[in-house]
Amino acid sequence: MRLFTATELLLAAAAPIQAAYTWQNVKIGGGGGFVPSFVFHPKTKGVAYARTDIGGLYRLNSDDSWTAVTDSIADNANWSKWGVDALALDPQDDAKVYAAVGSYTNSWDPNNGAIIRSSDKGATWSSTALSFKVGGNMPGRGMGERLAVDPANSKILYFGARSGNGLWKSTDSGATFAKVSSFTAKGSYAPDPSDTNGYNNDPQGVAFVTFDSTSSTTGGATSRIFVGTADNATSSVWVTEDAGTTWKAVSGQPGTYFPHKAVLQPTEKALYLTYSDGTGPYDGTLGAVYRYDITAGTWKDITPVSGGDLYYGFGGLGVDMQKPGTIVVASLNSWWPDAQLFRSTDSGATWSRLWEWTSYPNMNLYYSQSTTKAPWVKAGFLDADTKDLGWMIESLVIDPFDSDHWLYSTGLTVFGGHDLTKWDTTHNITIEVLADGIEEFAVLGLASAPGGSELLAAVGDDSGFTFASSSALKTSPQKPWMDPIFSSSTSVDYAGASVKNVVRVGNTAGTQQVAVSGDGGASWYAYSGAGTTMSGGTVAYSAGADTILWSTSANGVQRSQYSGSFSSVSSLPATAVIAADKQNNAVFYGGYSSTFYVSKDTGSTFSAAGVLSGATSIRAIAAHPKTAGEVWVSTDVGIFRSTDSGTSFKKASTALTNTYQVALGLGSGSTWNVYAFGTGISGTRLYGSGDTGATWTDIQGASQGFGAIDSCKLAGSSNTAGQVFVGTNGRGVLYASGSLGSGGNGGSTTTTTSRTTLSTTTTRATTTTNVTTSTTTSKTSTTSSAPTSTPTGTVPHYGVSKAYPNKIQILPFQTLSLKHL
Ligand SMILES: *[C@@H]1O[C@H](CO)[C@@H](O)[C@H](O)[C@H]1NC(C)=O
Ligand SMILES: *[C@@H]1O[C@H](CO)[C@@H](O)[C@H](O)[C@H]1NC(C)=O
Ligand SMILES: *[C@@H]1O[C@H](CO)[C@@H](O)[C@H](O)[C@H]1NC(C)=O
Ligand SMILES: *[C@@H]1O[C@H](CO)[C@@H](O)[C@H](O)[C@H]1NC(C)=O
Repeated sequence: MRLFTATELLLAAAAPIQAAYTWQNVKIGGGGGFVPSFVFHPKTKGVAYARTDIGGLYRLNSDDSWTAVTDSIADNANWSKWGVDALALDPQDDAKVYAAVGSYTNSWDPNNGAIIRSSDKGATWSSTALSFKVGGNMPGRGMGERLAVDPANSKILYFGARSGNGLWKSTDSGATFAKVSSFTAKGSYAPDPSDTNGYNNDPQGVAFVTFDSTSSTTGGATSRIFVGTADNATSSVWVTEDAGTTWKAVSGQPGTYFPHKAVLQPTEKALYLTYSDGTGPYDGTLGAVYRYDITAGTWKDITPVSGGDLYYGFGGLGVDMQKPGTIVVASLNSWWPDAQLFRSTDSGATWSRLWEWTSYPNMNLYYSQSTTKAPWVKAGFLDADTKDLGWMIESLVIDPFDSDHWLYSTGLTVFGGHDLTKWDTTHNITIEVLADGIEEFAVLGLASAPGGSELLAAVGDDSGFTFASSSALKTSPQKPWMDPIFSSSTSVDYAGASVKNVVRVGNTAGTQQVAVSGDGGASWYAYSGAGTTMSGGTVAYSAGADTILWSTSANGVQRSQYSGSFSSVSSLPATAVIAADKQNNAVFYGGYSSTFYVSKDTGSTFSAAGVLSGATSIRAIAAHPKTAGEVWVSTDVGIFRSTDSGTSFKKASTALTNTYQVALGLGSGSTWNVYAFGTGISGTRLYGSGDTGATWTDIQGASQGFGAIDSCKLAGSSNTAGQVFVGTNGRGVLYASGSLGSGGNGGSTTTTTSRTTLSTTTTRATTTTNVTTSTTTSKTSTTSSAPTSTPTGTVPHYGVSKAYPNKIQILPFQTLSLKHL
């Protein structure tokens, strides 16, 4: 907990009472993002955690659900702490959890990384700042774990850093760290040394630390420790036999490909390793699996496939602690026809597969899939894509106390099950979606229609979701936005006077990226006026649903009426923020830089309107859901309100400055609350006002982080009084309810806190490296990372979808949207 400055203590007297809002997730279910790893406690049954690359840590519950445990650490200033690059548990204390946090090692992340530690299973955290950055959302994030606690000594931790920063050690349970100078390997591999933005040219460093719990101790510390580095041309697995005093390359190692996982099987006294020719998580066209016999000092190549069958690297590696010799390995990325998993019960001497070709295009699937915990995974992916088993499989674990219980992660969700040993008996297992509670979506747009759908959520890496009513918020949807599916939807809006009419836009040019619904977002069709060249940005639907205004990502502002073609709106600057008046079909609003624009001819022409005094950046516009002409605008100097369709504006109050998203939601009685992200008396966070913006109350509260406020989306419920939704960049949609009263406890309008506001971090949210997505290609298309050799069986080519003729192939880089970069 941070200490307050004198100024803040002074201000505390005038500070508003925090409204008692308790935040919970809207249940999209199914995860929706990449889980680079799971760690089970080796000695206490049922203790396990999952780390995500943009949404923090989750703890496993006994009913297969997960609980987010790092919501408190990622406030606006510390948004990047939701990127988790490594996770460690203390084998001698099942309440202790450690994580290396930080999102990027380049300039996208303003902060150095930290090692956070908890002694109460993640309920509370302490943090130690590192002197360098941590890359929880960088390439190679599925290797590991880079952080480990000595099984013989709870005080000793090692952390493998990126960027050439080497190996670090703590001898005080993670309170302080010092560089291990005797360890000189750096892990110098960078996927693209010519990349100038610091993302792909950063050396990936030390990839894992694995203690050998079977070794003796030296001065109370485990003697033998294996450390892996991101190297392929030379040695990449290193060992100390004297508790870290001296290190050497393990002799006889393959010295080719990058090691991803190194898991000790103590009974066998063996180290199992998976290798890939890339560091992941999107790549890999060759790889290997090895078993290192620690006693004999010998390496054995136990790769399950060879020759033309080997067209992927290996990632996930599950070792059964109850049954020595039993392991499961996964292809890291087999883009077609699907991932492959292999199981051995004889230490890798022989393997069996999770599916096999019979006679092409038929396959024997030695599994069935259950999506009861997240039905949309079936509708949106299993039925729409060949890759039922997933991709980006960097992590696969078998519960150390239950040989039937296992988990593996993909770019989309968490799969796993409770009958893994049936693989050995009936050779047919049930794979379930086991991501319940993991809400990792990056939310790109939210809306709540009065008398219509309670929540419309446009998300990255998936199409989006409709929640018809408040009660539906607790149930994972049956399907995502389909027909058409977008690989990401960037914005959604409803027609204010015809709320069953909804429009959304997607981010993947090449196919039509505007879809409309006439039933509130339950079903959709491609908007006939949409061409195939434009995408992204934000969309506004006229009140009567006859006109769509679209501020595209790269083609300026476009307008279409009566399903006609889109044409440029030259009177509104490209990338302007836009909104439709919710009751007057003729009126649209726009904002760019300091200028507010209004159109009274259904968006054909815009002209500069009322002045927002002192504002130099218009961030968002919210039209009142029920009152024509009432419009709210958020700017770098605060919130403005107009009641005459933007002809004139008044600043709502001086209590909020530097505001981002603003939204209206049903308040008590017939009043409407206003919600805004901005800087106010309690700092930079979410505020609500029940008195038309005169006074503002901190409704975020002390323990809920939302990440960077400039990447959050916001919607007030138009149907449930006091309910408000926050869309995050990696923690899904959170919502809460409360009462703001009116004219109540809004506190000072003259003071500001002494805290400095956040420097701009927008590059993080908007920069993408290589989004070469093209989703709904025909079934004969190929992919950029499709296998270069022919898979087993009588398959002539990889261009046809499995046994389902109507399946479309969703191409590999769909997951490479801004969420991951
Ligand atoms: C959060 O931000 C504050 C202010 O920048 C900093 O002092 C603190 O160490 C940060 N917390 C973490 C976990 O990094
Ligand atoms: C190491 O990996 C890089 C990137 O895949 C590749 O270009 C290079 O040839 C590899 N080196 C060896 C010796 O395999
Ligand atoms: C495995 O079980 C599922 C579900 O009962 C079944 O559909 C599938 O055909 C079985 N696989 C094989 C190869 O028998
Ligand atoms: C990026 O895109 C270019 C052009 O499509 C392609 O040649 C290149 O291989 C891609 N790089 C990565 C890392 O995917």
